[in-house]
Amino acid sequence: MSTEQLLLSLKSFTKTSEISIRQASSTRELEELRHQIFGKQSALTDAAKVLKNADTEIRKIIGQELNKHKRMLEDLFSQTLREIRDQEFHTSLLNDQPDISLSPQIPSLGAIHPTTETIQRISSIFAHMGFQLFDGPEVEKSIINFDALNIPPFHPARSMQDTFYLNENTVLRTHTSNTQIRTMREKKPPLKILSPGRVFRSDSDATHAPMFHQIEGLVIDKRISFSHLIWTLKTFLSLFFNNSALRFRIRPSYFPFTQPSAEVDIAFEDGSFLEVLGCGMVHRSVLQETGIDPHLYQGFAFGLGVERLTMLKANITDLRPFFDANQNWISSFNQL
Ligand code: DAH
Repeated sequence: MSTEQLLLSLKSFTKTSEISIRQASSTRELEELRHQIFGKQSALTDAAKVLKNADTEIRKIIGQELNKHKRMLEDLFSQTLREIRDQEFHTSLLNDQPDISLSPQIPSLGAIHPTTETIQRISSIFAHMGFQLFDGPEVEKSIINFDALNIPPFHPARSMQDTFYLNENTVLRTHTSNTQIRTMREKKPPLKILSPGRVFRSDSDATHAPMFHQIEGLVIDKRISFSHLIWTLKTFLSLFFNNSALRFRIRPSYFPFTQPSAEVDIAFEDGSFLEVLGCGMVHRSVLQETGIDPHLYQGFAFGLGVERLTMLKANITDLRPFFDANQNWISSFNQL
């Protein structure tokens, strides 16, 4: 084939290829054209093969022409491919009809843990009586957790079997009563404080857990008496159990930080009683320890177990599921 003939056939091949690319209406058609135009059997590849054996002069002329045509076709091809792909994408979006027969995927909703719910409920009842929430530390100085609360060094609550010691002077608080000391030191009376939180004891079986929740209450003011304590607890318990005829009894007890001390039991229909909280008048040495004059101010305090009250309210008999993080169990106690 002469140089002229080769050039002519190259031109006509380019022309027909250009027309075919412009007429293509789908990416599939374009893919077929890619083989025909740039593939191993295409006229472009044939021309390149002929060139290999041609004279240097001819190779130069035809080579340049060949590259020019090839580049033009490649540009046209990739631009057309991009346009057709965009078009196909938009058409597929428009045609994408939702399948209304598919069952909906409703995300499973979480639930508030019964312990949290009880804390919120109790906090709200006491908030209505004018109590303020106070947060105390879980890692506590043993002087605050014990000594300042009149718990002497030989008291069994301080033994290694009952307490998690972090070092000689620091413990994981064994009760929320540490907040009594902290509020009395930080704030001036009158005080009306409620302090929920986690407490830790080296204890574990079906009814005891090494970590559980308590709520501490503290009222300090002038002329506060035991009757205020009884009225407050009676009001709280009947609101919490939603029973204005709730029967309960106050039994003398002993806590180093209150004097006198008592425990409150609620009555069941079968005549049995169950202890729900400890309470008492704040001991004068605890008041003195925090700089409050016991001749001017008196007060009462109480401490209750959150899991215990939740179990009573929701008829739960085992303490362990409280700490299992089982979503089904948690959801089943929603809205106690
Ligand atoms: N701190 C006590 C306990 O963990 C509970 C308690 C009893 C708290 C009497 C008080 C109280 O504030 O007055 O067993």
